[in-house]
Amino acid sequence: MNWDDQRVVLTGASSGIGRALALVLAERGARLVLVARRVQALAELGSAIEESGGHRPLVVPCDVSDLAQVGALHAEVEAQWGGADVLINNAGRGYYHSFADADVREYEAVVQTNLLGTIYCTRAFLPGMLAQGRGRLVFISSIAGEFPVPKHAVYSATKFALNGLAESLDYELAPQGIGVHLVGPGLVHTEFAERAGSKHLPVQKKFAKSAEEVAEAIADAVAAGKHKSVPDAAAHLLIKLRQHLPRLTRFAFKRVCRRFH
Ligand SMILES: NC(=O)c1ccc[n+]([C@@H]2O[C@H](COP(=O)([O-])OP(=O)(O)OC[C@H]3O[C@@H](n4cnc5c(N)ncnc54)[C@H](OP(=O)(O)O)[C@@H]3O)[C@@H](O)[C@H]2O)c1
Repeated sequence: MNWDDQRVVLTGASSGIGRALALVLAERGARLVLVARRVQALAELGSAIEESGGHRPLVVPCDVSDLAQVGALHAEVEAQWGGADVLINNAGRGYYHSFADADVREYEAVVQTNLLGTIYCTRAFLPGMLAQGRGRLVFISSIAGEFPVPKHAVYSATKFALNGLAESLDYELAPQGIGVHLVGPGLVHTEFAERAGSKHLPVQKKFAKSAEEVAEAIADAVAAGKHKSVPDAAAHLLIKLRQHLPRLTRFAFKRVCRRFH
């Protein structure tokens, strides 16, 4: 797939991976719908894209965890552009906390955003893609969707759920011309860790990649039609170790966790 002139709905575009991805895709000629809750950040990104010669993006403030707002987002995209070619479900949040005394409301917000928000957006845009006989669904999951992380239990659970959702949809939708792509980034330098409360972890500084690097890798992998990509060699290695040497990996990871968490 060539990104040129593709109508791309990108959630979580106001910062981090989403913002970097918007800039990369705009440079490759995509027409973007920028979605998030922070209007000002979206508007500034829209202007930056236009000033650098990209197509003028559609800016739609939307809380993806609210079904009515997602309905309004879909209606706006239909009205302005007649539909979408690619949906990138990137909006997400974490909540790094010991489970026993965690705020359950925070857990609800994580599930509402990461899982239900993704379901709402996908359900909204898929019928139009099916009607036009083509489309791509991209799910930004996480290494935590294959390698659970302590004190990120509910976040890990939502990302495991996204992996199942994406694989199931891939089987269901491939015969109808819809491509499904799952991305599992490792640690990335964004606002995510600060907002989730995990910024203090030493691994954050040591192993995190830049959002720009990850965005380029995602743009390439989706364009190449890969079903799954892990834009981080260390994360990829961890996933493989857990798959092939589960007992040894659990033993070693428990020791690492005692040190870092
Ligand atoms: N950073 C990492 O280490 C890492 C690693 C693996 C996977 N990921 C995943 O990558 C994705 C992007 O995260 P990031 O690292 O770029 O973090 P980030 O900078 O905090 O970006 C998160 C984005 O999601 C948006 N968002 C959050 N809740 C939303 C809601 N209810 N409705 C609409 N938009 C919402 C935020 O915008 P507003 O606040 O303006 O709404 C923001 O644009 C997430 O799904 C995350 O789980 C991150």
